[in-house]
Amino acid sequence: MGKTLIIGAAGQIGSELTLALRQKKGNEAVIAADIKSECPSLLIDGPYHRLDIMNREEVRSFVQNNAIDEVYLLAALLSATAEKNPDFAWRLNMEGLFTILDLAKEGFLQRIFWPSSIAVFGPTTPNEGTPQHTVMEPSTVYGISKQAGERWCEYYHNTFGVDVRSLRYPGLISYKSPPGGGTTDYAVDIFYKAKAQGNYTCFLNKDTELPMMFMDDAIRATITLMEAPKENLRIWSSYNLSGISFTPDQLAKEIQKHIPDFIIRYEPDFRQTIADSWPNSIDDSYASEDWNWKPAYNLSELVSEMLHHI
Ligand code: NAD
Ligand code: SER
Repeated sequence: MGKTLIIGAAGQIGSELTLALRQKKGNEAVIAADIKSECPSLLIDGPYHRLDIMNREEVRSFVQNNAIDEVYLLAALLSATAEKNPDFAWRLNMEGLFTILDLAKEGFLQRIFWPSSIAVFGPTTPNEGTPQHTVMEPSTVYGISKQAGERWCEYYHNTFGVDVRSLRYPGLISYKSPPGGGTTDYAVDIFYKAKAQGNYTCFLNKDTELPMMFMDDAIRATITLMEAPKENLRIWSSYNLSGISFTPDQLAKEIQKHIPDFIIRYEPDFRQTIADSWPNSIDDSYASEDWNWKPAYNLSELVSEMLHHI
């Protein structure tokens, strides 16, 4: 059995995914890697390496010299940060993917996980119950990079037989590691501000409905997809994945059930335009048919968990 390498392991998803995979496979079998030199305290129980996904040769020799046969590639710039540095975002989000896809094509990797996003959809996409196969005209550099990445994943699968699996994650909500610069980050920040100061100024309008998911569901979906028999899978671009949809107003009202004096204000900024281009809700019937996906957390359970742990 080869080892698993998680690149971007110090981030919001990577830190929790590393913990979950180490629990399944053992600490030494799961190597966490990130451009950050310092190992996050959550990950000190297993191997941690500084690795820059932009350094193709360094990544290639690391994979070949450490008996890695599976990579989770999470390093990327998210939607809001990417808009501030489009050229770098495009290079980071695409070049690393090619490095890993090529390693698999050459036979050094058995399997890859690479996340996509609801950002692959755009203003012309049907926005309620967005289907798996639909119009996709993303208007952000992040969305364009994710859509291109999906096309390349499917191409490497169909042309070279590469086993690369992917999910279009909705906005992810968690309390173990902070989010990394996305448009859905408000739905994490709000909990910290609600508890610390009893009020929050939201950068989206009160009625902006977006697809979201509690991190435990996202980690379970990721591992279930990666363990699914290959012959059951019909989607080799990226699976639609649905959890819960809500607006800032609905989230604030749910928080007020626990903190009655909580006040929310609205000052939309450039992220409003990004959010307006994304769907309200997602149809993930391919995921439920192919690998029995079903989310566990609704809005009230998510809010209780977040307020309990923060
Ligand atoms: P994050 O920003 O929290 O973490 C990304 C990690 O990658 C960081 O720790 C960062 O230091 C690391 N990194 C950056 N540049 C690197 C480099 N050159 N080499 C190695 N590591 C580098 O992001 P996240 O929220 O954990 O997202 C992980 C993946 O999931 C991304 O591809 C993102 O697009 C996707 N995704 C996330 C969400 C979400 O809501 N969090 C939703 C949809 C898709
Ligand atoms: N949560 C992510 C973002 O807002 C969606 O991919 O960028």
